[in-house]
Amino acid sequence: MDKQAAERRIQELRTGINHHNYLYYVEDRPEITDAEYDLLLRELQQMETEFPELITADSPTQRVGARPLEKFSQVTHRIPMLSLENAFNEEEMRDFDERVKRFLGLAAGHEIEYVCEPKMDGLAVEIVYENGELTVGTTRGDGYVGEDVTQNLRTVKSIPLRLAAPKPPMLFEVRGEVYLGLSPFQKLNAEREEAGDPPFANPRNAAAGSLRQLDSRITARRPLSIFCYAAGAVEGHAFASQSDLLATIPRWGLPVNPLIRKVSGIGGVLDYYREMTEKRESLPYEIDGVVVKVDSFLLQRELGEKSRSPRWAIAWKFPPRQAVTVVEDIVPQVGRTGVITPVAHLRPVEVSGVMVSRATLHNWEEMEKKDIRKGDTVVVERAGDVIPAVVKVLAEKRQGDEKPLPIPESCPECGSEVVKIPGEVAVRCLGLSCPAQIRETIIHFASRHAMDIDGMGDKYIEQLLKLGLVKNVADLYYLKKDDFMRFERMGDKLAENLLNAIANSKERELSRFIFALGIRHVGEHTAKLLASAFGSMENLERTSVDELLSIREVGPQVAQSIRTFFHNRDNIQVIERMFEAGVRPTVEEKKVGGRFTGKTFVFTGALTRFTRDDAKRMVENEGGHAAGSVSKKTDFVVAGAEAGSKLEKARALGVTVLTEDEFLAMLEE
Ligand code: IVH
Repeated sequence: MDKQAAERRIQELRTGINHHNYLYYVEDRPEITDAEYDLLLRELQQMETEFPELITADSPTQRVGARPLEKFSQVTHRIPMLSLENAFNEEEMRDFDERVKRFLGLAAGHEIEYVCEPKMDGLAVEIVYENGELTVGTTRGDGYVGEDVTQNLRTVKSIPLRLAAPKPPMLFEVRGEVYLGLSPFQKLNAEREEAGDPPFANPRNAAAGSLRQLDSRITARRPLSIFCYAAGAVEGHAFASQSDLLATIPRWGLPVNPLIRKVSGIGGVLDYYREMTEKRESLPYEIDGVVVKVDSFLLQRELGEKSRSPRWAIAWKFPPRQAVTVVEDIVPQVGRTGVITPVAHLRPVEVSGVMVSRATLHNWEEMEKKDIRKGDTVVVERAGDVIPAVVKVLAEKRQGDEKPLPIPESCPECGSEVVKIPGEVAVRCLGLSCPAQIRETIIHFASRHAMDIDGMGDKYIEQLLKLGLVKNVADLYYLKKDDFMRFERMGDKLAENLLNAIANSKERELSRFIFALGIRHVGEHTAKLLASAFGSMENLERTSVDELLSIREVGPQVAQSIRTFFHNRDNIQVIERMFEAGVRPTVEEKKVGGRFTGKTFVFTGALTRFTRDDAKRMVENEGGHAAGSVSKKTDFVVAGAEAGSKLEKARALGVTVLTEDEFLAMLEE
């Protein structure tokens, strides 16, 4: 395309995008789906990449911040990342042990030293350190060629950007499993359902989806973790065994699962497996078996590899936590923001030790895709303490009278109109006074991560609503002891405790208060950002969409939702009534004795991981000071790309110079 044609197309795209922005954010009546909108925006971004001279400050692309990647590049692993053979029972495990001994020419009674490890249910990655510096990170891919996800891996907090070894090896390729813990997984899915995005089926898919994000800022918000368990190519260091490797690398700052153990012979392996089967229930992450590896690298080399897997290791899988049962009913359930979720009521069934009687079907699209109907025989699966899910329908068990649940025409709780917003999977009740929404809003407000009103559980909130004692969250602060005394089985002491708990919540941190309000798309993380950016409710209430958009990590959807919330007079009134009752959200105090107390920082050059304002705030929060110029009193200079005279001066004065990542790492130490 020549420049003139490009100019025309760019103009066309900008006009179109601005028009759709207006329809979406101002008129609240979009004419195209989010996906179609994204296509337009992406085309514009691509054209601007091709013709950078045509970028103008007011182009809609200039709102989105650091530009995401177009696609991942491919990287060939120096040493292929093999997969593992599986054993599914004790017999197959014993066969493995015997095979190993036979291959090595050892007596049947010999006890091989094995290293036993939990088999993490995530995705395998390789991270390359050159002279101690993280240079490249890749996914396993097909074992030979993976994708370059360096930018994303750099956001995983537990991955060191520089090895903590005094003399790091010239080359060190470490391999491990990136995973998402169970509680961040649940939180992420709750947020997605609220935003109308399809939930992830399990923590592994969520981890994979998060790591394979073209926009690393999204990855950065997902609390991914890693456990390292193997090495690829190594130059400049020799490890004698798996146990030597796993004892050494934690000292270099690489996380290794503390449950890993060296054992003797098949007996040791069996004990370990049994122990992990029990532990599995209480771990904060998913494991799907144990991996058993011959410890000695000498023996490993002798055993060698088959085409896709080594002869020196095996994965002994746990039985799946699944069971077959019947869907007795499908009941639509209304949540805090009006999202209606179909929930399957199951014939109670035991799934590896736990009785399961309910499973979320997430939304109608999911349910229709899996074609789940009332009366169906289904396979249910449980992951840790996560709400059970229906994996699939056993269609061959159908009798012919199973009934799908249609999208309700009106809200099952209040009868209001129900809508499905284009581009979203969620079905929502539009009723402003829907009792289910009010109930869930108050439950959320009082919950542990929000205002943390101790003892104020679902049951009491339901009674307060039933007796007409509260209609919104502000009413909580006007309750009297007599009100509680009207409850069944309520004693003096208990009523006083509840009143005290309510009173104690009056001075919660501002971030909790913002989160507690239940503004759509404002989770705990965003609430914290808003609290530190605005410092008070008054400032937040008065803010504009543009001001909100200037906060890194706040996108148009979130900004608009905040504006809409504070535009609503009822919401303002509820907040004011809380203030009148003495609610005073506190602003997070600067830490006395923070880790930067007495330290002076100067930020220079082009910063990409945070804005200058963010940096200043981070330093001040830790008791430090951010200055504008470098002097002998400066303790640290944080230099981005193209840093100039300040960096030179810092070097001349011998001031410690940090990269942005090193600065962030200091905050996490
Ligand atoms: S060792 C050649 N150790 O399981 C050995 N793998 O089924 C390569 N996995 O691709 C892998 N935990 O994604 C190893 N402690 C562990 C593991 C582990 C999970 C995964 C890994 C691998 C797959 C093979």
